[in-house]
Amino acid sequence: MRLRSTAVHINTVALTGATGYIASHVAVALAAQGHRLVGIDNLSNSSQIVVDRVAELIDGPMPFVKLDVRDTVGLTEVLAEHEVDAVIHLAGLKAVGESVTDSLRYHDNNVGGTISLLRAMQSASVPALVFSSSATVYRPDQPSPLTESSRIGPGNPYGRTKSIAEQIIDDVAASSSLRAVHLRYFNPVGAHESGRIGEDPIGPPNNLMPFTMQVAAGQREMLQIFGDDYNTPDGTCIRDYIHVSDLADGHVAALGAFGSIETSEAINLGTGRGSSVLDVLRSAEKAADRPIPHQIVGRRDGDSAVSFADPSHALERLGWQATRSLDDACQDHWRWQHQNPTGYRTSP
Ligand code: NAD
Ligand code: UFG
Repeated sequence: MRLRSTAVHINTVALTGATGYIASHVAVALAAQGHRLVGIDNLSNSSQIVVDRVAELIDGPMPFVKLDVRDTVGLTEVLAEHEVDAVIHLAGLKAVGESVTDSLRYHDNNVGGTISLLRAMQSASVPALVFSSSATVYRPDQPSPLTESSRIGPGNPYGRTKSIAEQIIDDVAASSSLRAVHLRYFNPVGAHESGRIGEDPIGPPNNLMPFTMQVAAGQREMLQIFGDDYNTPDGTCIRDYIHVSDLADGHVAALGAFGSIETSEAINLGTGRGSSVLDVLRSAEKAADRPIPHQIVGRRDGDSAVSFADPSHALERLGWQATRSLDDACQDHWRWQHQNPTGYRTSP
């Protein structure tokens, strides 16, 4: 890769999926670094209340437009009107199981949404894109630690939408002045330390951390642990749980890398540490200061035994590394859960 020495000045950033779990934390991190923001979301999996909560944390309003990113004309107008310098594209559907039963909806939203965004960015002459990708783009049989050159081969339609979107962005970047960074997230967990923003799943959570916290809060009866017969030290699966505020800081760092990116580049955002399901359970019990009812059940289809990042490329290219522990994430997630037992729905 050839490096450019020219600095790219990024002032205003558009965040798609702005009211979602990760983007709300990215908004707070960006504002803390003095960036101007415009948030875009169709509110299909989030609440407008998030806009007020973010405003509270950044001490000023976050301009927000309710819009589907597949509305190319509307999106172009927003990017031009706000004189956007870079887009962080977090809008997307993310439930792996749903992507199997309704794959067309996932391709339409995640791939179609990305194509629409690229068109709008071209029309509005926006030169820089940070894309929310996922560790799920790697082939499930690849050994950990996963590096950016581990083999790609997602095991489900959701992962394929991310991998296809990455490839489309790569092609556009190779044939235009667009520069792009694909951030491949490992397992985002935790919440802002204030307890004002966090993950607010609609219906039973698919993921370990929110489910565990809802059991701790007495909202669900029992955590089911999907398998204790894996080839790992305690028999349960190992993942790389990254605090959402560390993840958010990684996005800010990515904006600083555009000066040295020729076309496009993929970067893992993980901690490099693997934790088992039982490690998460113990850390959550400590944070909530109570035992969490659980039972071991059979394996969940499609789970790989071990997945954690080699995060050294992020350190080298972005000067970024995770600083928060699993215990920090559990404490912050529990604070959010405890202060907002029904998420954004009825909390003041
Ligand atoms: P989220 O559901 O909380 O946020 C996504 C937001 O995008 C939601 O607010 C939703 O309303 C919005 N959205 C969806 N489709 C849209 C569209 N067509 N137009 C406008 N807005 C739309 O999810 P999240 O956990 O914050 O994830 C953010 C991004 O990170 C997603 O792209 C997801 O695939 C990716 N990611 C998440 C994880 C994870 O475990 N949470 C892991 C890897 C990658
Ligand atoms: N697990 C349980 N019980 C539960 C939920 C999960 O035992 O109720 C276990 C799973 O079997 C797995 C581990 O907890 O071993 C983590 O599962 P999650 O569903 O929380 O996370 P995944 O690693 O399966 O996937 C997540 C996101 C994907 C993303 C991937 C990598 O759901 O979208 O991380 O970033 F792509």
